[in-house]
Amino acid sequence: MTERPSVLFALDPVHLPLLFPPDLMARLTATADIDPTVVADLRDPGARRLLGETEVLITGWGCPPLTVETLDAAPKLRAVLHTGGSVKYLLPDEGWERGLLVSSAATANALPVAEYALGMILLAGKGVFQLAGRYRDERGFTLGEVHPHVGNVGRRVGVIGASRIGRRLIELLRPHDLDVVLHDPYVDEAAAARLGVRAVGAAELFRESDIVTVHAPAVPETDHLVDRAALASMRDGALFLNTARGSLVDHRALTAELVSGRLSAILDVTDPEPLPADSPLWGLPNVLLTPHIAGSQGNELRRLGGTAVDELARLAAGHPLHHRVHRAELPHAA
Ligand SMILES: NC(=O)c1ccc[n+]([C@@H]2O[C@H](COP(=O)([O-])OP(=O)(O)OC[C@H]3O[C@@H](n4cnc5c(N)ncnc54)[C@H](O)[C@@H]3O)[C@@H](O)[C@H]2O)c1
Repeated sequence: MTERPSVLFALDPVHLPLLFPPDLMARLTATADIDPTVVADLRDPGARRLLGETEVLITGWGCPPLTVETLDAAPKLRAVLHTGGSVKYLLPDEGWERGLLVSSAATANALPVAEYALGMILLAGKGVFQLAGRYRDERGFTLGEVHPHVGNVGRRVGVIGASRIGRRLIELLRPHDLDVVLHDPYVDEAAAARLGVRAVGAAELFRESDIVTVHAPAVPETDHLVDRAALASMRDGALFLNTARGSLVDHRALTAELVSGRLSAILDVTDPEPLPADSPLWGLPNVLLTPHIAGSQGNELRRLGGTAVDELARLAAGHPLHHRVHRAELPHAA
């Protein structure tokens, strides 16, 4: 790697100003030779000439996976700094075999998702969504009612997955009067205790939580992890929160539980996504749907860009990356 690496952006240009506002762009240009062209698709013939000199690719949302042809056109390429979360499908096998350094902004992207989950857990526990709906629908007649089933004292939150997001959420839940339990087959009791939570089996988590919040990656073993039996075992009136991926949930079974009114749900992700226009979930008072916005949006993108800027500075200084992704992690990662 040269002292001033030559860098090419490969991402949807619409994200560039939010990822790299002027202060971050200034840091980038102080560290590296930045090609002003922002390539949306490295397979374009025009990208080949640029790739010939590229040592570092800064990739992001909208960049299709790199191909062997792309790598062949980039003989000087040493590192791929991804401003998105998952890098699972970013490189062909050859990219890993060539020893390219790969870094991701998944840790920065975990922050807003965990904040979203925290906010939803607290507001739902307070009864805000349902009471606000009734207040509006009944034009204020609910004022002064007693709400014995509302509140965040002593409620049990079941976190599925000590992922980056799951761990950050556990930290954010700590100051509250909640009882947090965790299910993650890769985290034993001692490791859970270090996170300040109790490790439980999946069956106990579903059966005994007031809120179940899913933060595991979408991998073959988590497909329909939340199945009909798991949902049926949840407490009457419990809340199901999904910011992970729709594929983790049996949506037919979830829809039946929600239509019956036995459970409520907050879903930032669904299967399919979006739901069909005639899905009953759109109209239920016990369901809140958001359009896959828990991850970085708006000014949160600067944290993703900032991660790449910091990683580039480390590369240029000959220091190790802080957010390096190793191929061996991929099967159990988002
Ligand atoms: N809604 C959004 O906008 C948004 C944004 C970012 C990520 N996500 C999703 O959030 C989830 C977590 O993302 P992340 O980057 O924190 O993940 P991550 O890559 O950090 O997760 C990996 C960890 O998940 C745990 N895990 C693996 N298999 C598991 C299983 N079978 N059961 C329970 N836990 C298991 C393991 O501890 C593993 O180390 C993913 O599904 C991801 O796609 C959603």
